[in-house]
Amino acid sequence: MPAIVLVGTQWGDEGKGKATDLLGSSVDYVVKFNGGNNAGHTVVIDDQTYALHLLPSGILTPGVTPVIGNGVVVDLSVLIEELDALEARGVDTSRLLLSANAHVIPPYNRVLDKVNERFLGKRRLGTTGRGIGPTYADKMSRVGIRVQDLYDESILRQKIEAALEVKNQVLLKIYNRRAVEVDEVMTELLLHAERIRPMVIDTGLRLNQALDDGKTVLFEAGQATLLDVDHGTYPFVTSSNATSGGACTGSGVAPTRIDSVIGILKAYSTRVGEGPFPTELHDDSGEFLRKTGAEYGTTTGRPRRCGWLDTVVGRYARRVNGLTDVVITKLDVLTGLNTVPICVAYDVRGTKHDEMPVNQSDVHHAKPIYEELPGWWEDISACRTFEQLPANAQAYVLRVEELIGTRISAIGVGPGRTETIQRFGLLGD
Ligand code: GDP
Ligand code: IMO
Ligand code: MG
Repeated sequence: MPAIVLVGTQWGDEGKGKATDLLGSSVDYVVKFNGGNNAGHTVVIDDQTYALHLLPSGILTPGVTPVIGNGVVVDLSVLIEELDALEARGVDTSRLLLSANAHVIPPYNRVLDKVNERFLGKRRLGTTGRGIGPTYADKMSRVGIRVQDLYDESILRQKIEAALEVKNQVLLKIYNRRAVEVDEVMTELLLHAERIRPMVIDTGLRLNQALDDGKTVLFEAGQATLLDVDHGTYPFVTSSNATSGGACTGSGVAPTRIDSVIGILKAYSTRVGEGPFPTELHDDSGEFLRKTGAEYGTTTGRPRRCGWLDTVVGRYARRVNGLTDVVITKLDVLTGLNTVPICVAYDVRGTKHDEMPVNQSDVHHAKPIYEELPGWWEDISACRTFEQLPANAQAYVLRVEELIGTRISAIGVGPGRTETIQRFGLLGD
């Protein structure tokens, strides 16, 4: 004990990687339970910047055992590239564990993800093109390939053949692409099989044993609440459960074992890819947030869409995830504004909505109702206690806390590991 889940409350890129890294020294295991290398977490330690995609952010902390759970989809070549790159920078990656039940991203799903987006044209989702959606679709259609299949070549061949029967028809007849050979898929998937073999275990068993032994386990979500396939702005979502429930299904640890759920909330909003975004700004303020917050995707380099903080989204995230704590990140980015708007509700065709509308087209038509709070100009990056923040910054945090209804336990005032204000303990103290 304890088991802590950490989730994104908005559309991703809230600073989950930095928060995980911050907690790293106090936890024994960090588990990635959903998504794959569509994630992009930037972690800044002293003068070193690390961009992680597939590996849990806990890998950067000596002593932590990083775990890739069964709910993750794994691109094996990306796994090896990331491990090699970290090893070359002196990071010890030898403790990494990989679930035997995690699905692998076969090369044809990367192709299908990209051609499918091209085919959709104006209706595209703006995916990261990493093969995430097609691989989760295969999992649900029961034609997926799991890590454990790599260690039985005849089973692996049968599974690839079964998948390719349909995939090749689609590639050839719908997308006018070349068919994929079974052998080329076998070769790519088996290339690193022996190297990763020592990491492959029953991670669900290990994590439950660790909790029995009194260890602390942190479950780190990729993506975020509004990108969750069930609870997000469907179909403009990713293909996994990025909310707290996903931590259980994606790891094999039961809900009764989870002690707390930390929501990471950026002090404003961003979104990458298509889909509704009620507080999106198309003016100088949006440009200000993008520039000041360096809002460019870690994975694809795309400029992130920017807007003001949306507490309808925050309240929704509290409910769906059962948040016990919120960490506000990037408060420093709001420094220098005359007033700071907070969206408190939506106006949908003349009707006020305090809660997220259930009807998707209402979300597309939602107009934010703003409350304007006075801004601050002081540099806050050196503040380490709540009381050191300018009065208006304190008032902003307290108002957000009130609107979301969950205590704000930590506040990010810069990208660095130490640039954080801890208000309340995040590990159950
Ligand atoms: P993640 O996907 O949720 O892990 O977030 P990303 O790493 O994609 O994006 C968050 C970005 O904000 C990263 O570049 C972080 O280094 C940076 N960051 C995190 N917290 C803070 C903060 O409190 N202030 C500032 N200025 N930057 C932050
Ligand atoms: P982190 O973990 C922001 C978005 C994509 C696209 C949609 C579907 O860094 O917060 P996918 O490739 O998953 O099928 O794309 O989801 N998306 C993210 N946006 N942060 C992420 O991860 C994302 N992962 C996927 O831009 O709109
Ligand atoms: Mg990110």
